[in-house]
This record gives sequence, C-alpha cells and structure tokens, in this order.
Amino acid sequence: MDLEEFEKLNSGLKVLLFKGEDEVEEDSKKETDLLVGNNLYKLYGNNKEESAALKGVTLRVHEGDFICIMGPSGSGKSTLINLLSTIDEPTRGTIKFNGKNILSMGEREIAKFRYENLGFIFQNFNLIDNLTIKENISIPMLLASNSMEEIEYKVNRIVEKLDIRDLLNKYPYECSGGENQRVACARALVTSPKIIVADEPTGNLDTKNSHELLTMLQRLNREGTTILMVTHDNMIASYSQKLLFIRDGRVDKILKREDLSQKEYFHKIIDITSKESQNLIDIL
Ligand SMILES: Nc1ncnc2c1ncn2[C@@H]1O[C@H](COP(=O)(O)OP(=O)(O)OP(=O)(O)O)[C@@H](O)[C@H]1O
Ligand SMILES: [Mg+2]
Repeated sequence: MDLEEFEKLNSGLKVLLFKGEDEVEEDSKKETDLLVGNNLYKLYGNNKEESAALKGVTLRVHEGDFICIMGPSGSGKSTLINLLSTIDEPTRGTIKFNGKNILSMGEREIAKFRYENLGFIFQNFNLIDNLTIKENISIPMLLASNSMEEIEYKVNRIVEKLDIRDLLNKYPYECSGGENQRVACARALVTSPKIIVADEPTGNLDTKNSHELLTMLQRLNREGTTILMVTHDNMIASYSQKLLFIRDGRVDKILKREDLSQKEYFHKIIDITSKESQNLIDIL
C-alpha cells in the first residue's frame, strides 16, 4: 500500500503516519521521553553474509505509554524489544533511558537498571518448574538481595492484586496456562517496574485468558506503568494507545488510538493488517 492509499483509507481519522524521524521529534516535544532507541541497527553473521534484523529503527517511549509492536514474522519485533530492554545490544545506534545512555553501563549497573525499571513477560511464561509459584515470583527480588521481610511483603502485595494467593505453594506444572501467565506477570511486577516489556504474552493463552491479562495490563497502564508489547493479534493490539508496524527491520507505520473507541481502533488495525495479508496473497 502506498502513502496515498493509506491516507485515503484513514481520511477523517486521527491517524499519524510515520514519515521519518522529524515527525517523531515533533511528537516527542509534548511528552516526557522515558526510553529512546535512536537509529537502531542489528546485524547478524560475518561480514560477507551479514543480514540485518533491524535497519535504522527509532522509537521514543514516553512515560505512561502503552505501545504495541506488530509486523510479519521475522520483521525484527523481538530484536527491537530485546535491544530496548538490554537483553541484547545493537550493532549501531543509541538507547537512552531518562536521558542516560544504557549502552555505556557496566554489567552491575545494567543489572541494577533492569531490576529497578523493567519487568519481563514472555510467551512461554519462563517459569522454573522445580520452584514453587511463590519462589518463582520472588526470583527478581532474590537476585537483588532484598531482605526476606521485604520479599514477603512485596510478594503478598502482588498476589493479592492478581488474585493468585491460592497458587503460592503449587508448582508451575500444577497450574493452567492462564494461571502461569498471571504468575509470570506477578514476577514481572513484584519490583514495581516503570516499564513492562512483553513479547507475545498471550501467544500461549486462549481468548478469555488473553483478555484477562490485557485488562490487567491496561489497569496497570492507567495507574502509570509504561507498557511495550509485541503481538500478532489485532484484538490484543487494540488495548494499546499506539502501534508500531515493523516490516523488514524498519518502521513501516505508526497508528495512534487518540480519541478512537477501542472498537474503532480495532477496525483501523484490521484495515492495516488485512491489507498486509492481501499483499501476501497477491505474491503467492
Ligand atoms: N541470533 C540470531 N542470529 C541470526 N539471525 C537472527 C538471530 N535472531 C534473529 N535473527 C533474524 O533476525 C530477523 C528478525 O528476527 P526477530 O526474532 O526479531 O523477528 P520477529 O519479528 O520477532 O519474528 P516472530 O514474529 O516470528 O517472532 C529474522 O530474520 C531472524 O531470522
Ligand atoms: Mg518474535
């Protein structure tokens, strides 16, 4: 789809098209930057057969944002989220958190930065099978050498909030997928992180559990937590406030919810993703 077609499709609606860094600069003047990935490249392989997973992506995350990242398989979504959350390092480009360059931090500083600011939720929950639910939730706090009283207090607080107190003495294999994902959320949230980073967190959940998880994330977002999430699912993406479409390692489009209802926003997302599918079918 070219720019003209897309603009026609969205005429009358407040949809911001990504046209380059200038527009993002403009946008950022109004809000506070929390996390900024600037001109990020990620190259794999040795010189001759180098392939680029990311080719100059810029993303500004403002405090309180709820951003979803969508795009075809292999387009670079996980790569982007991994770079922004210090799981991996870019080949080129800068990443700043509250104005501070996180790429120049040493290992201990990075570990502290993660503990204080980030909570991770993954598609396959990443719980440790031979630890109880309580122990799994405590892991981030144990790693940061918190006192037992502090751990007890914070674990209790989060299990109340997510309504999973009954699971505390069980093991992950004794819990359902939805329960395990709530436990994974509790583990991500126990340290009260500023940003939740989630890579297809509903990928292994049924519709009901997906919506429960998203309703919970939406509530946290309204309370001030920033959310950065990868998803393939149009409905899940409609919980966000802003959508970044990635294609071949580049930002293809940005869609903002602004004052659209969730239903209207959902239909805008479908418009875009169904065009993507149509393009694929045309190629076949
Ligand atoms: N460790 C690696 N070594 C080499 N290539 C890699 C590595 N990790 C990712 N890639 C490549 O980088 C590209 C982007 O991968 P990425 O995992 O970011 O895609 P994605 O958009 O998350 O896809 P999916 O929707 O399938 O999860 C892909 O072509 C992938 O094969
Ligand atoms: Mg991925």
